[in-house]
Amino acid sequence: MLASPKLLPQEIIRHLRDGQSLSAQEIDFFITGLTNQSITDAQAAAFAMAVFFRGLAPDQCALLTHAMMRSGKVLDWSNENLTGPLLDKHSTGGVGDNISLILAPAIAASGAHVPMISGRGLGHTGGTLDKLSAIPGYRTDPDEQLFRTVVREIGCAIIGQTDELAPADRKLYAIRDVTATVESIALVTSSILSKKLAAGLQGLVMDVKTGSGAFMQELEQSRALAKSIVNVAGRAGLPTRALITDMNQPLAHCAGNAIEVQHALDHLTGAHRQARVHEVVLALGAHMLHLGGLAPNLAAASDKVDEAITSGKAAELFARMCARLGGPKDLLSKSKAYLKIAPLSLAVQPKRKAYVKSIDTRAIGLAIVQLGGGRTRHQDAIDTSVGLSQLAMIGDHVSPEQPLAIIHAHSSLQAESALAALEAAYQLSEEPIAAQSQAVIETIHADGDEA
Ligand code: URA
Repeated sequence: MLASPKLLPQEIIRHLRDGQSLSAQEIDFFITGLTNQSITDAQAAAFAMAVFFRGLAPDQCALLTHAMMRSGKVLDWSNENLTGPLLDKHSTGGVGDNISLILAPAIAASGAHVPMISGRGLGHTGGTLDKLSAIPGYRTDPDEQLFRTVVREIGCAIIGQTDELAPADRKLYAIRDVTATVESIALVTSSILSKKLAAGLQGLVMDVKTGSGAFMQELEQSRALAKSIVNVAGRAGLPTRALITDMNQPLAHCAGNAIEVQHALDHLTGAHRQARVHEVVLALGAHMLHLGGLAPNLAAASDKVDEAITSGKAAELFARMCARLGGPKDLLSKSKAYLKIAPLSLAVQPKRKAYVKSIDTRAIGLAIVQLGGGRTRHQDAIDTSVGLSQLAMIGDHVSPEQPLAIIHAHSSLQAESALAALEAAYQLSEEPIAAQSQAVIETIHADGDEA
């Protein structure tokens, strides 16, 4: 028998660079080397850049996704005696996007199990994990046993990526983050799906953002990403749909960590429900329940999610999940005491009466980072108490009495620099502008999925 030729990282990179396809062995070799550190960071960066420029055909992307999934543990839930399907949703990242905090317990209350492994903020976008860190005591890194117990008994657990799940993605992601190779359809697809497949899901709904606050700002790019994820997930046997949703303005009318948790709690308890947020929760949730076989059609599924929220069942499950993961037992009734908001408030006042014409949503996200609510370096700690509230949306009438936003900061220096960023982020018009209230733009299905 002939021995197979020795694989060399530089040859694999050269093949990619020259637009040739890789064999499954080459992909496995590279990803194994990334995980066991026999591939250097420089080689991983060159690999990412070659994929960035050349792209990957769907079969190659599926091989990469599988290799990254197999770089660590793949959760098996078959011994847990779960009473419903394992479902999840994942967002490609936005500003004022606190949907997971509302959706996970709503889906749990509708009969499914949601093992939601979420990430930290990235670039200008907020992360669910950072939002949860605003809740005192909440453990985003429970041991696997506790994670399994909470998913089984309460129905949902939102935690961070562990060292065991898709470690190759963690490594490659950190390198992409500092080498301008995040915005690659093949790399985003394999990064997201390797983690979702490792979590042992039975259905996934993607929220692919588009617009000024999204990584893929053009609708065509967002559509291509959504199609890539749905297609590669289908090849891996994970039924998946993707909704493309608007990020030309923040989703909630607030952004920041503690502020967004309070907004989500207000939504769950009914203290305040914002229509755009509710629209996105119902749309994503309806597809999740329908994919999981928990409703005969999308209309019935949407009603079920609505009922889970308006009945207070989702709020109750969120509170139980928090308490079980180390957070306060009375979070719902005493949220304002636990979720600390920075003491200084500054209104961003336009000089004259006007209408909001457009918003640079990315700049709003970066203003939060500047306030300390996000990171500029991987190792940075964040300040969960800073943020923005009462963000004006497109079409809103603003005036010196009706501000563009309220900044929550610790010092006037901090607040003044966010003020300049926000003033620049808003384009105003003297003429009335139509509101853009609808957030869900389109749905991408796998071939043969008729929902
Ligand atoms: N989220 C991920 O998990 N990976 C990406 O590449 C982009 C967003």
